[in-house]
Amino acid sequence: MNPEPTVLLLPGDGVGQEVIPAAAEVLIALLPHVRLQQAEAGWACFQKHGSALPPQTLALAREADAILFGATQSPMGGAPGYSSPILTLRKELDLFANLRPARSLPGLSPRFDLLIVRENSEGLYSGRERPIEDGFVAERIVTARASRRIARVACEQALRLATRSGRRPHLTIVHKANVLKRSDGLFREQCLAVAAAYPDIRVDELLVDTAAMWLARDPGRFQVIVTSNLFGDILSDLAAGLAGGLGLAPSANIGDAQSALFEPVHGSAPDIAGRGVANPLAALRSVVMLLRHWQRDAEAANLEAAIERVLREGPHTPDLGGDATTEQVTHAVKTLALG
Ligand code: NAI
Ligand code: MG
Repeated sequence: MNPEPTVLLLPGDGVGQEVIPAAAEVLIALLPHVRLQQAEAGWACFQKHGSALPPQTLALAREADAILFGATQSPMGGAPGYSSPILTLRKELDLFANLRPARSLPGLSPRFDLLIVRENSEGLYSGRERPIEDGFVAERIVTARASRRIARVACEQALRLATRSGRRPHLTIVHKANVLKRSDGLFREQCLAVAAAYPDIRVDELLVDTAAMWLARDPGRFQVIVTSNLFGDILSDLAAGLAGGLGLAPSANIGDAQSALFEPVHGSAPDIAGRGVANPLAALRSVVMLLRHWQRDAEAANLEAAIERVLREGPHTPDLGGDATTEQVTHAVKTLALG
């Protein structure tokens, strides 16, 4: 690891401009040797420069040891030449695995602490739609290679999580192979084959609709879920809803290379942007994931404990029923994490 690692900040649009500075402030307090850089991306950037992800931003992203990404706003109905920066970054940096943890709010039941490992490089997000007589066909791509590599990440994560929690590792493969017999059949088969090399992990499988039902009814039965792109997107928002809402949900995008991108799951939240009341905890939990990725486990544990304490005792932003500002919550977390 670089002795002075670089973290590239891409705040983006809307509340991204509020929560990424908060995340950077706490990160630098915990790891003062980190070098922070910042670059533009998103809709405002597109309007200014004609590109949502200018070449200099992409170049900095390639060189950075990690990226903290806020959110970008998509133009309604699209704009000619606009393409989503986060999708481009995932593709260009080959960040094929999207890790989305969700855990129950302190003191509330049902108790759960789970991780959704979402395939990030193919599936229904191929971006390939072609016209047919009365509509369009969207291509949904499933390859053996991508299925195997996402399964490997999921198995490694299951072992890591089990070490931290003291539970027996458990992996649930989620698919729709009863209908998508060939494509999801392949995904299922490759996941099972990879998981067979991890005898310590208890492996089971669920159809995605059943998985949604069980997530809503009994999320505590899950530890790690591995699934394809669209299913993972939807199930992780469901899990985020159970876990206190989008203001709390972090994510990581990782690949085989060292570099990785960390981002809150939420978008630019135009309804609250500019008022200084966005919840910074999703972005701060994304910093926890960055610290874990860098194996800074002590700092990660301190920050996580500080976030849990603020969740229990406040201060809380309005999305959690409080009246605190982004700045007040950030300050409270930082003070506890350093203490
Ligand atoms: P959103 O996540 O921006 O907002 C959904 C709801 O959650 C809103 O009521 C918002 O106020 C609330 N919320 C989100 N983040 C919050 C926070 N930190 N604290 C408190 N409340 C928070 O989703 P929406 O409204 O569907 O999309 C808005 C824009 O964001 C769209 O242009 C969309 O395309 C974009 N988007 C971008 C993403 C990204 O860059 N990765 C991800 C999701 C959406
Ligand atoms: Mg989503």
